[in-house]
Amino acid sequence: MGKAERIQGVRGMNDVLPTDEVYWDRFEEAVATVMRGYGYRRIRTPIVEPTALFVRGIGEVTDIVEKEMYSFTDALNGDELTLRPESTAGVVRAVIEHNLLYDGPKRLWYQGPMFRHERPQKGRYRQFNQVGVEALGMTGPDADVEVILLGNRLWDELGLGGIRLEINSLGQADERNAHRAALIAYFEEHREQLDGDAQRRLHANPLRILDTKNPAMQALVEAAPRLGDFLGPESLAHFTEVQRLLAANKVEFRINPRLVRGLDYYNLTVFEWVNEDGLTLCGGGRYDPLIAMLGGNPAPACGFALGVERVLEQLRRNAPDLGATGCDVYVIHAGGAVGEVAFQTAERLRDAGLEVILHCGGGSFKSQFRRADASGARFAVIAGEDELARGEVSVKWLRGSPIGEGAARQETVALAALADWIVDAMVASDGADI
Ligand code: HAM
Repeated sequence: MGKAERIQGVRGMNDVLPTDEVYWDRFEEAVATVMRGYGYRRIRTPIVEPTALFVRGIGEVTDIVEKEMYSFTDALNGDELTLRPESTAGVVRAVIEHNLLYDGPKRLWYQGPMFRHERPQKGRYRQFNQVGVEALGMTGPDADVEVILLGNRLWDELGLGGIRLEINSLGQADERNAHRAALIAYFEEHREQLDGDAQRRLHANPLRILDTKNPAMQALVEAAPRLGDFLGPESLAHFTEVQRLLAANKVEFRINPRLVRGLDYYNLTVFEWVNEDGLTLCGGGRYDPLIAMLGGNPAPACGFALGVERVLEQLRRNAPDLGATGCDVYVIHAGGAVGEVAFQTAERLRDAGLEVILHCGGGSFKSQFRRADASGARFAVIAGEDELARGEVSVKWLRGSPIGEGAARQETVALAALADWIVDAMVASDGADI
């Protein structure tokens, strides 16, 4: 019989392999610590939401809604559903549905997979993970600055370098409308320089033209009317206060007057953290209109989401070798009756809090030693027939031997004292906390 045809994973949707786990662990620990530090509580919403939520929330004429959503009709009941492309809309839906703002503002965070049908490339996937925060029910620039400080602390906690913060203000709807009218007039005057995408967006969403990657349009876009010139005194005051508070907290930032976001719900402050290659690791801002747009009592809000894969990639650049995490002990044994004792020995070591792999599947001591080495274990415990008859096992340092790396140190230890012996050896050699 020939080999069966392989089934490949879906393009742009990645497996996270165990070798990546050390980065994920480090990341998730930092996230949990920072969220606790700022009083944010986790919310978990479904991966599937009604399509209308995103169309109304994110905006009909956005890249996400126009061409990136995994939308489908539920064959069983005809519901129009979508795999969430982001989580802000879902969180706001849940906040409204459960009336979470009834007793005051809420600080929420989430983590999970998002889905966008984009062209896969490095840092751009069809299933990717986000961690996000949403601060709901707070109007002032202090809330904007709080979420930015939270983001910054997370980078610090991770030791992440090489990223910069850019901020801008999108003002309010009437200010954007005045700017929009001026933009349309300007682009209409230069219609012959617009590419197909821009022509199509000219009336529907001229702001997105400013985001064009087309080099032939850069000069045109550069000279276009700037939103900053259309902001009224209140919007300007909000933006000025954000800047003042950031400076007072020693947060470095750059004002990028061209910073627009790909989702329609934003007003006033928007911001992004961008790396050396211009890739956005994290983006967000204030979105005061969204709660009312989705049928809730009007309430202000702001937040951000970071792309976990992008942050982990940056972490890898900063710390290319976080070190493979091996277990503490690999138990090698002669099988048969000895194998039974080896099972029990492994259990007793686990009782002592040690991480233990018990060799399964038999094989020579030599081949078992190879497995033990590959497992990354600190110690090999060797249970042989003769030693066991004396109530003893051998312990061999595979790594971090106190008499020098690579030195083959091996000792005989009484079975009854084994767990204590290993714990003591680990504490003595690096103060490991068990
Ligand atoms: P967003 O800018 O669409 O904002 O996405 C946030 C982050 O998710 C991006 O900066 C990027 O790191 C990551 N990301 C987006 N698309 C992909 C992709 N295809 N592959 C890998 N990573 C990706 C939002 O989603 C808003 N909900 C943020 C927000 C929260 N605003 C207010 N609250």
